[in-house]
Amino acid sequence: MKKIMVFLFAAIFIVAVLAFAAEVKKTELRPTQIVMQARAAWLKAMSKNLGDGNFPAIVKDANELAAQTKKIGDGLANPLAKDITLAISVFANEASAAATKKDAATVKVELGAIKAKCDECHAKIRDKK
Ligand code: HEC
Repeated sequence: MKKIMVFLFAAIFIVAVLAFAAEVKKTELRPTQIVMQARAAWLKAMSKNLGDGNFPAIVKDANELAAQTKKIGDGLANPLAKDITLAISVFANEASAAATKKDAATVKVELGAIKAKCDECHAKIRDKK
């Protein structure tokens, strides 16, 4: 009887720990994921706003993307990751300047250039691990 109780307590404890670990894994994003999800959201919003002709909104998102990638890029040690991230910042500033002038064609080109850099890092760095 005693052995069964010990076994039961141990089993319940293990199940509780596993359930807790699964919950933590599900809900907590890594810092890089939070950064990346913000980038993806800005890019998506800018494409949509380009379609809608909402240039002030593009200026705002492009400035935020430029600032975030500049701040992070400056702190990166890997030279390739740093180059790509800072290039995104430059393109985002150019997209912002073009949106200020309501130059839709240039905004489109810059957004394409940004997307290409995202893909370059994902292919050359992220997916190599
Ligand atoms: C310098 C490299 C680098 C650049 C530049 C980069 N990414 Fe990422 N990205 C990563 C890495 C590494 C991960 C994996 C992060 C993780 O799982 O912790 C990632 C993951 C992601 C994810 C998945 C996040 C999640 O919830 O798991 C998205 C979406 C994403 N990136 C979008 C973008 C967009 C949009 C851009 C460009 C504006 C961009 N990334 C630029 C390296 C980069």
